[in-house]
Amino acid sequence: MAELPELETLRRELEKESVGKRFKVPEVTGAKLTKRNGNKKVFQQRLEGAKVKSVDRRGPYLVGNLDNGELLLLHLGEKGYLEKVAPRSTAPKGTVLTLAFTQGGQIRLVDPGGTAQAFVAASDNLAEEAPELAAIGLEAGSAERVSSVLQRAEVAFARREAVAAISESLQGMERIRQIVASLRSVARRDQAGEPVQAVALAEVIESVVRTAAHDLKSASARVEIREPCLVLGHRGELVDVVLNLVVNAIQAREEHRPNQVSVELRRDGQTAVIRVADTGKGISASHMKRLFEPFFTTKGPGEGTGLGLSLARNIVLAHGGSIDVQTEAGAGTTFTVRLPIQEPEAGVTSVARGTSRSGKAG
Ligand SMILES: Nc1ncnc2c1ncn2[C@@H]1O[C@H](COP(=O)(O)OP(=O)(O)O)[C@@H](O)[C@H]1O
Ligand SMILES: [Mg+2]
Repeated sequence: MAELPELETLRRELEKESVGKRFKVPEVTGAKLTKRNGNKKVFQQRLEGAKVKSVDRRGPYLVGNLDNGELLLLHLGEKGYLEKVAPRSTAPKGTVLTLAFTQGGQIRLVDPGGTAQAFVAASDNLAEEAPELAAIGLEAGSAERVSSVLQRAEVAFARREAVAAISESLQGMERIRQIVASLRSVARRDQAGEPVQAVALAEVIESVVRTAAHDLKSASARVEIREPCLVLGHRGELVDVVLNLVVNAIQAREEHRPNQVSVELRRDGQTAVIRVADTGKGISASHMKRLFEPFFTTKGPGEGTGLGLSLARNIVLAHGGSIDVQTEAGAGTTFTVRLPIQEPEAGVTSVARGTSRSGKAG
């Protein structure tokens, strides 16, 4: 699979070549390429005539946001790559897809390994059509919500930071993802009345671990799911909570000292307890007072937004839970999130329908 920086380059190239253009009927030559859409006809029909608004990257996928409400999802497989098609060039062996635009220009996907995938999914039905993508954070229509949030003055600075960070490194990418994840929470809270669901916290943690896998590895992380716990709420928000705590724990590393990060889920009676601990720098008493304030950060420009903990706390409170912190300067920090458990036999669907978030939000 393309490494992330490489994928980001491909994303930018794809964006440059495709944004504002409309697809002609794509030429599909890979036998298995479009199997997610059933057959290539479906893929071709859903793509034809659609205009590309933007191109995102979500985990290993390149995601084209189309003006017809659909998403074009490309997974390059183990050896796949994209290339701009030069006039009159012959397609190399392994070409599985050629995307041509009505305004001219073509891009092809070459996949010598035969493991690439291309499919079209409705952006408001992504959780069903591509659950693995929903799991890494792109949710129904969130792109639009994020962009509307991004336009707000209060986060304009975060956007500038994001642009500065992008040129830095892969860590920069991680930060941008973090900022976007925070903003996504803001956006989601604007949506009143979204139904709550039974959420498996083990799965939430696994999703975070997948997202932060690279950084967690260097932080010699320990993940321990002692008991599965179901809570009632919003999966994406709970992912953001744990992700923010895990990113903070990773960032707490002091130079020349190993930082052991651990994430633990256990059950305490009717309460689910998530602990995110590190052996990093710890938090001083004066900072402790301001920890959960929005925009409070001790991190350098481009590193922190100061939004993580305030959002995390709001989400946890809205879920009827609590968030605590124990810390010792120079020894490390432990954040503990407690959430009320939802017993599966309690009839999740009826509860879900009967419970609205309003009134709970803090
Ligand atoms: N695990 C931790 N170890 C040390 N300091 C932390 C930890 N988590 C949070 N902090 C402190 O709290 C501040 C606010 O955190 P947060 O709201 O996530 O914003 P950000 O991470 O963008 O700075 C951080 O800048 C940092 O000073
Ligand atoms: Mg943070």
